[in-house]
Amino acid sequence: MSFLYKADPERGAVWARLFAERAPDIDFRIWPDIGNPSAVRYLAAWEPPENLAETFPNVKVVFSVGAGVDQFDFSRIPPEVPVVRMIESGLVAGMVEYATLAVLAAHRDWLPYAAQQREGVWNPIRVRTAGSRRVGVLGMGVLGQAVLAKLQGFGFQCAGWSRTARELPGIESYAGEEGMDAFLARTDILVCLLPLTNATRGILSRDLFERLPPRSVLVNVGRGGHLVEQDLLDALDSGRLSAAILDVFDTEPLPPGHPFWRHPRIMVTPHIASMTQPETAVEAVLENLRRHREGLPLIGLVDRRQGY
Ligand code: GLV
Repeated sequence: MSFLYKADPERGAVWARLFAERAPDIDFRIWPDIGNPSAVRYLAAWEPPENLAETFPNVKVVFSVGAGVDQFDFSRIPPEVPVVRMIESGLVAGMVEYATLAVLAAHRDWLPYAAQQREGVWNPIRVRTAGSRRVGVLGMGVLGQAVLAKLQGFGFQCAGWSRTARELPGIESYAGEEGMDAFLARTDILVCLLPLTNATRGILSRDLFERLPPRSVLVNVGRGGHLVEQDLLDALDSGRLSAAILDVFDTEPLPPGHPFWRHPRIMVTPHIASMTQPETAVEAVLENLRRHREGLPLIGLVDRRQGY
């Protein structure tokens, strides 16, 4: 019985060592060294192999090594095979750090100061208190909730939006299309942490930007597919948005010459907001293997109809 890992080989080597220690009865394999394909019971992948069902007829669970599953083509995975998102504390901690950094950068005018330094300009901007700044997080899943809890500690006015209503202590919650207008109207710094689904593709568009207060800041740590790129450029030109901090892009790596690279009010990072950490990820996967053996509900089980 084997477990096949198909993602970053450097971190895969750590997975292999941890599996050898913690689950020595499982034959852990790193792609492309697949061994006997009929022996593969579990697959953990960033991008699943093509012809998954044909090549690995006995696969019982498919794990995403990332928080998202938008890169999976569900039609290629037999309907009875559960697909599981990565929910692990290392990934959450990394996202909390990045989102906090981005929100503080927006709050403390880090992008204008970077532009001013390039121009040799000394122009202090009045410092505002965190309590006067309204942060809104789109997506109140595991990541969104952790980010909101941390930001609340700085004293920001924090709100979250989710598809279906969620209650979090001290956080204003908005839900559904009917809650979106009020959520956006009270948001100065918008953080996108939504899953990418048919319902959320292109959500960061002109229509949404126009419902934010003037000179808001966008932080996108969801997926590039959430953002309509030209609409962002237009919103920055018109002053609707004052800055954007982007970690994810429609095409990755961001192509040379793309207008985002040199835009003075856009900060680009190369999809590093957070990364799955082998130690805690293996812990989470082993827990799910145990649950699968015992017929218990899997943590992070994807609802294929919803796409996350
Ligand atoms: C990275 O983007 C992930 O989904 O974990």
